[in-house]
Amino acid sequence: MAAVEGRDAAAADSGGVQPKYDAEFTDNVIAATGPNAHPRLKQIMPSLLRHLHDFAREVDLTVAEWMVGVDLINESGRMSDDKRNETAMLSDVLGLESLVDEITSKLLISARSGGDGSGRPQVTPSTVLGPFYRVDAPILPNGSSIITAPQDSAWYQKAAPMLAYVSGRVTSAQSGRPVAGASLDVWLAGPNGLYEQQDPDVPDMNLRGRFRTDEAGRYALRCLRPTAYPIPEDGPAGRLLTLLDRQPYRPAHIHFIVEAPGHHSLTTQYFDADDPHISDDTVFAVKKELLVRFQERTGDKDARWSAMCDFVLSEG
Ligand code: BEZ
Ligand code: FE
Repeated sequence: MAAVEGRDAAAADSGGVQPKYDAEFTDNVIAATGPNAHPRLKQIMPSLLRHLHDFAREVDLTVAEWMVGVDLINESGRMSDDKRNETAMLSDVLGLESLVDEITSKLLISARSGGDGSGRPQVTPSTVLGPFYRVDAPILPNGSSIITAPQDSAWYQKAAPMLAYVSGRVTSAQSGRPVAGASLDVWLAGPNGLYEQQDPDVPDMNLRGRFRTDEAGRYALRCLRPTAYPIPEDGPAGRLLTLLDRQPYRPAHIHFIVEAPGHHSLTTQYFDADDPHISDDTVFAVKKELLVRFQERTGDKDARWSAMCDFVLSEG
């Protein structure tokens, strides 16, 4: 009785409003962290726990609803392997990969490397890696094609009107000079909207390749003008989009990872500026500096389209 009276007195002190849930609970959970905890975790976990617990209290999260979330994450884990990262995709549709990409690049790229009124070119912005990257794409000479599907296949016949020549230059933000020997890891989805690991009808590593810039910092490759695609609907990420009444499409894009000694590596994408989905990417990854216009190419029987994708890397 005395304890109840004590709580009533505390409530009266705070204006008479009783907290709906145990007011000390979150502090107790935070205080359970030991003195030898990892320093970064010690720094960030109190904030994570406060936001997480406040969310649960704010929406009156029930056990049944919490379990739906646990099942969703478990299922994502079961679906993920070296060819598909469903858990990353789940975070993508929530905007989290785009947000942490922005935070990371702001931390990495200091004001001196662009936008400082110096007239130096801006570093090419990064954007999300996405769940379909694969290591060990074939290393190819400049000018070659990353299409390995046979020319007499149905896939190739569908792809033929989209054949494209993509080229560009890698330069340094600080010096403006070309970066020779930079490596570009390139990948994109096919005209059916599928990456090669999703598509049983194309050879391994179709539409993937790695290239190296020449002495002038130039690279060139043959691929396809990209196609917009819906993210896969057969897992938690797609299901969540349906439940949220959201559209599942990513605008047409080509992925690049650009790396060079003495420079920060860059994970990014170039987006087809004329794609109808350019303003409603389902993973919120489009940036205006990453729009490219595909031009009609004449006099090249192996490419109907061309695009220039340049990259400016930050030294460091
Ligand atoms: C992608 O661009 O490959 C991608 C990115 C995020 C979610 C799904 C796909
Ligand atoms: Fe993609």
